[in-house]
Amino acid sequence: MRKIKKILLVLLVVFVVAQFFNPNKNEGDLASIDAFLDETNPPENVKLILKKSCYDCHSDVTRYPWYNNITPINYWLASHVKDGKKHFNVSKWEGNSVKRKDHKFEELIEMVEAKEMPLNSYTWTHSEAKLTEVQINEVINWAKKVRLKYSLEPKPE
Ligand code: HEC
Repeated sequence: MRKIKKILLVLLVVFVVAQFFNPNKNEGDLASIDAFLDETNPPENVKLILKKSCYDCHSDVTRYPWYNNITPINYWLASHVKDGKKHFNVSKWEGNSVKRKDHKFEELIEMVEAKEMPLNSYTWTHSEAKLTEVQINEVINWAKKVRLKYSLEPKPE
């Protein structure tokens, strides 16, 4: 019994001390998304879908849930955001080549169609972010138009 108590006490101390460690927050400016919106011109409904279901991991502006105040959950969330942004960041859209942007939209269509985005681990806790069939179609229709636009743009080698 004593031993278990000791172990629990040590774990508690570790947990309390861990609370002093936090990853940096992803709290950029919403305006950083404007260039992406101007260029890809989503209709209002798609704009809302992107905001509700994608930007938390694919832009510089994450809306954090309360449990982000708990270490180590915050590190787990931060790693998703970091990984999501590394692959696709709408806040850093300018500066990508047309080829790369087009490729990102190709991936986007595939991922949304296969229901791989938004991530399952996200929709467990953000049920409102889950996409309906209709929303999936709306996103894909928009993404196809964006690809058509990119296909008509000159691509320097
Ligand atoms: C909880 C975080 C999270 C959410 C929410 C999320 N994603 Fe992702 N996304 C990721 C991560 C992490 C990766 C990279 C790993 C992978 O491919 O699974 C990724 C990869 C991608 C890629 C692939 C980029 C590439 O080059 O391979 C696209 C495109 C994408 N997401 C689009 C979306 C769209 C569109 C939404 C909203 C409908 C969305 N994501 C919602 C985390 C997220």
